[in-house]
Amino acid sequence: MGTDKESNIRSFGINFPDTNFVIRRCTANDLDGVIEVNERELPEDYPYFFYKSILDNYSDSFLIACEKENPNKIIGYIMWRIERTPSVNSLELVNKGHLVSIAILEQYRRKGVASALLMNSMPAIEKHNISEFVLEVRVSNYPAINLYKKFRYKINTIKKQYYRDGENAYYMIKKVSK
Ligand SMILES: CC(C)(COP(=O)(O)OP(=O)(O)OC[C@H]1O[C@@H](n2cnc3c(N)ncnc32)[C@H](O)[C@@H]1OP(=O)(O)O)[C@@H](O)C(=O)NCCC(=O)NCCS
Repeated sequence: MGTDKESNIRSFGINFPDTNFVIRRCTANDLDGVIEVNERELPEDYPYFFYKSILDNYSDSFLIACEKENPNKIIGYIMWRIERTPSVNSLELVNKGHLVSIAILEQYRRKGVASALLMNSMPAIEKHNISEFVLEVRVSNYPAINLYKKFRYKINTIKKQYYRDGENAYYMIKKVSK
């Protein structure tokens, strides 16, 4: 019998040839490692129960990237949740897949880790019958804005003073093609 982590790698782990990382679903045992990456790389942090509730409700799309050689070493994560709000084009309530957070440890960036996390989590959150993927990003965060544009997210609006330090956010949207 393997550990939860080993069976998770067997059932889901995606091995990218020619890279030094694998992608797999997050487990409760991984949350401390995820929080460590978040606290190191982003000014927005969340209490433990917030991560746990995302894991409990949206585990299919809560993914982590780990070193291939050392699967306990978490180098990045992505988490989503569903919100039910009016569509941008009408007042009809629709499900949206909201990108809660993504971060990659600095020394592992520009190697396709964030792209792999996005590519593998979007189909999972799309299964919740969403009409669009949505996210907020700091207007100064060029790496992230470029990443999202590469995935065909478009800037929809600016949310003024969205962040605690007063910085504005771009609200970016990608429609789901039905
Ligand atoms: C944004 C972030 C997640 C990107 O992670 P990453 O693993 O380096 O991204 P990838 O290697 O998959 O890059 C994919 C694309 O994103 C864009 N990109 C990523 N880093 C970039 C940079 N420093 N400058 C310009 N474009 C960049 C490019 O279009 C890149 O494609 P390319 O390599 O073919 O040019 C990472 O920089 C990060 O963790 N930043 C801190 C946390 C953060 O800002 N999270 C987003 C909050 S909204």
